[in-house]
Amino acid sequence: MDKFYLTTAIDYVNGAPHIGHAYEKILTDILARHFSQRTDNMYFLTGTDEHGIKIQKTAAARGITPKELCDENSQKFKDAWKALDINYNRFIRTTDEDHKAIVQKIFKKLVENGDIYKHSYQGLYCSGCECFLNEKDLTEDGLCPDHLKKPEIVSEENYFFKLTKYKDAIIKHIKENPDFIVPSFRANEVLNQLEDIQDISVSRAKSNVQWGIDVLDDPEQSIYVWIDALSNYITALGYDTENPSEMFKKLWPADVQVIGKDILKFHSIYWPAILLALGLPLPKHIYAHGWITIDESKMSKSLGNVISPTSVLEAFKLDKPDAFRYYMATSAPCGKDGNYSDDDFKEKVNAHLANSMGNLLNRTLSMLVKYFDGEVKEEFFATADSEVVKGSYALSKEALGKIKVVENHFNHFEIAEAAQEIISIVDATNKYVTDNAPWTLAKEEKMVECGQVLTTVLNIMCIISALIYPYCPNIAADMAKQLSFDITKKLDDITVNEIKSGKLITKEEIHPVFLRVDSELADKSVKK
Ligand code: MSP
Repeated sequence: MDKFYLTTAIDYVNGAPHIGHAYEKILTDILARHFSQRTDNMYFLTGTDEHGIKIQKTAAARGITPKELCDENSQKFKDAWKALDINYNRFIRTTDEDHKAIVQKIFKKLVENGDIYKHSYQGLYCSGCECFLNEKDLTEDGLCPDHLKKPEIVSEENYFFKLTKYKDAIIKHIKENPDFIVPSFRANEVLNQLEDIQDISVSRAKSNVQWGIDVLDDPEQSIYVWIDALSNYITALGYDTENPSEMFKKLWPADVQVIGKDILKFHSIYWPAILLALGLPLPKHIYAHGWITIDESKMSKSLGNVISPTSVLEAFKLDKPDAFRYYMATSAPCGKDGNYSDDDFKEKVNAHLANSMGNLLNRTLSMLVKYFDGEVKEEFFATADSEVVKGSYALSKEALGKIKVVENHFNHFEIAEAAQEIISIVDATNKYVTDNAPWTLAKEEKMVECGQVLTTVLNIMCIISALIYPYCPNIAADMAKQLSFDITKKLDDITVNEIKSGKLITKEEIHPVFLRVDSELADKSVKK
């Protein structure tokens, strides 16, 4: 793998981030961290989507400029991602000067090539969706199905993009590349939507929407959100219509573009069409994740159940985001909807991270100190030809083999499924400890046997720390530290015996990597 470029949707800045936005950034950060264990050239882009009528209206209502509103809210997203250890390479804002200049050039090129034309139009416009809707998409009462608001009849002379010109090419691409849309069960949905697509309006009259990027050579029109927003994936890399940057040439096409299922149409129809019109290759995968509900209900301001990601950390007094990251990432199988609930959160992270994984390391290191003064002896290592405790070598090999299993899940963006595999190694290793009872072996003075059980577990813990690292980077680093294991190692370089013989640890250096989340700390009122 020579490079890996991945992106998230860029969030609207008309509010603060909630755990739905966080879910996507966590999934993408986990992918980024995993793929950085497989290549040195990983690039992770996220950011905020800042233009449009909604921002203009919200800012006006608050008596501030749109830019002031964007600065304020964009910072909230940055702060939240910092608290969640989202380790992006660039945070693009669609108000960034470099982005705006390239969007203008992209627009101009599309006009020059005849892919964008001017046309007088009357349609049903939903300001919530910021797009025109077809009559057949409305509810029985004539409302927008997402915003339950009556769309306005808007009549304007706008620029239009010839989406219809690319319909057949996109259908062909989807059919020939069954893994272009992930999960594949969503491809049919997109093929159905492609049936009745029309050319799309890509500009607005300046008299209606001032908060947007001007069309070059036509200051009466501003570029409408989707062409501005979607282009961020290439403008961030320095795509220039005449002279693309080295970075762009190295990283494009994206390896995966992570988005929510609600914006799949824009990413699997509009975006490929724009790229085809620019003569650029299409992203390798569009991964549409499901939606996060709260206690099985849709998150909404009116229900008062919108939860900010940092408030979960505060409510549970967590100084690191690992548990929350782990919980969110494992909340749903690939592409399916997930749910957040306080009780489920506590139960899962206590069971997986504290009781199974953390405890296993802690008990094993404590026994190493108790029975061997923290020293791993040469004769403790199990090999293919010699083992004193039956099954030790086989278990180590099985754990090592799981690296490929986990990688394979990641190749298909199955993040929750990969985590399940990791926990299954933890469970198998816990069973190995129970079955071989090193405390009994020590009592019976079978010290080599006892040492072999402990060393086998510690070697496996190195593999586990590497595999859990994308989900729980702080816990993994702490585990690795206590094991003297190099957490920056590439997955391909990990072997069955990562523990070095000699003194590994002292009593004082041993500490739990994750403390149980205390049920009394969960105060719902703090989270709102
Ligand atoms: N600005 C557009 C995206 C442009 S990408 C070129 C947008 N913004 S958004 O703020 O409404 O949503 C950003 C992302 O968050 C989307 O991928 C969306 O699916 C995701 N989510 C918003 N609410 C969500 C949940 N409740 N659950 C999971 N993801 C959710 O769309």
